[in-house]
Amino acid sequence: MHNPQLNRKGELQHLLTLDGLPAAILKQILDIAEPFTEVAEREVKKLPLLRGKSVFNVFFENSTRTRTTFEIAAKRLSADVINLNVATSSTNKGETLLDTIDNLCAMGADMFVVRHATSGAPYLIADHLRNTGREHISVVNAGDGRHAHPTQGLLDMYTIRHYKKDFSQLTVAIVGDVLHSRVARSEIAALATLGVPEIRVIAPKTLLPTNVERMGVHVYHDMREGLKGVDVVMMLRLQNERMQGALLPSSQEYFKCYGLTQEKLELAKPDAIVLHPGPMNRGVEIDSAVADGKHAVILPQVTFGIAVRMAVMSMLAGQ
Ligand code: CP
Repeated sequence: MHNPQLNRKGELQHLLTLDGLPAAILKQILDIAEPFTEVAEREVKKLPLLRGKSVFNVFFENSTRTRTTFEIAAKRLSADVINLNVATSSTNKGETLLDTIDNLCAMGADMFVVRHATSGAPYLIADHLRNTGREHISVVNAGDGRHAHPTQGLLDMYTIRHYKKDFSQLTVAIVGDVLHSRVARSEIAALATLGVPEIRVIAPKTLLPTNVERMGVHVYHDMREGLKGVDVVMMLRLQNERMQGALLPSSQEYFKCYGLTQEKLELAKPDAIVLHPGPMNRGVEIDSAVADGKHAVILPQVTFGIAVRMAVMSMLAGQ
């Protein structure tokens, strides 16, 4: 079946989800990102690949890492970057999402980087552009509802490959609020596509989607059992903003059962790495001693995110 993210030549046209993207494209993005990490070491941190292009960051939800690293990445590729301030935009006067997009297109947009609380919003924009003959304008999903956060998934894969080299030998545990997490969905899709043989999810029943096993993961409710012998621990934030009703007794109780402490981490392999997409809730899902400890690769994730987003944008621009 044709993947709506790919053009007729099989090249990336939009990046909406990692689900269904071929392994060859995931690996291509990681490979292209590799030399981009060196741009940060240069005196002039610029490449001309997006010169003359206008990238619009349109974030309808809060962000520190994703919005800023997209901006840095686009600027390093010499694009003009426009950050729409949604809080002070005409959205607040009742303008629809697609009317806003049409107006930004009229200002010469070549690429939209979109974050939205509603799952599917970036798809709606990509469909609208296709249906109105503007398929040359690309859409990058920077996180939509609970659905997907593809560039986070990619930068996590980049980080794992950087430290562990070979996906085919790994046991990876994803811990926490899988139910509300777009990051977890993108991570699981990418890990499976890249051939990770053992993907575990560790969470209370109330924070797991029904039939989560169908995603090809092994489920653990006991964190100590689930962490035994793992190479990679991927922690998730408790997404309180997406919870309806009380799914947990208390954050103290949650930390006791599912918070990552030094003592629990010792059950993983001695050279295990710890990832967290941020923002972190210290003392809720992760202890500060772990977050700042020698196994944590949380800040390198952020740095790699710039190169990975440069790779995605340069591929979308056909470079
Ligand atoms: N990981 C992530 O999406 O962080 P931000 O919400 O700060 O962009």
